[in-house]
Amino acid sequence: MKKKRAIKLVEEKLPKKRYEHSLRVAETGLKMAELFNGDKDKVELAGILHDYAKYDDLAMMYQQVTQYDLDHELLAYNSEILHGPIAASMMKYEHGLEDEEVLQAIYNHTTGRKQMTLTEKIIFVADYIEPERKQPDVDDIRKIIFDEKKLDKAIYEISKRTVSYLLESDKCIYPRTIECLNYYNLEK
Ligand SMILES: [Fe+2]
Ligand SMILES: [Fe+2]
Repeated sequence: MKKKRAIKLVEEKLPKKRYEHSLRVAETGLKMAELFNGDKDKVELAGILHDYAKYDDLAMMYQQVTQYDLDHELLAYNSEILHGPIAASMMKYEHGLEDEEVLQAIYNHTTGRKQMTLTEKIIFVADYIEPERKQPDVDDIRKIIFDEKKLDKAIYEISKRTVSYLLESDKCIYPRTIECLNYYNLEK
């Protein structure tokens, strides 16, 4: 899929704010691809498309889990984790996107996982640190990336914050998120 088509798909589907966030994730991803020698085309495409299913109807998303033969365990956790796997499936089966690395980066952008590809890592982090993000301590993560240049450490720190937040809100934690936390704790 070409960049132009991806932008058109996202612009037509998402509210303006989320569309602009998507473009900022792509831009931040490009800067990171430069820094870490990533594949700029893959990173840019995954950044543009990662939130494609963000505001889809939940009942429809539940159906799509079966339709696209996704892990049914996804249904037992916070619905926030659905939009990555569903966006990746829609891109693959409805829009002819074949690049596995781009698809994986879209699929796993919310939860992370162990042993991520470079494109996955970059999208996972870029989504968290794009310039308009204002979480507490987000600047610490930006420093780990742009000053320390430590990608795996940033992944660990982001996973740690996500897991803490989920625990504090009494939410269940999807196993892949825990795997990501443990794996990058040892890698960092
Ligand atoms: Fe997302
Ligand atoms: Fe996002």
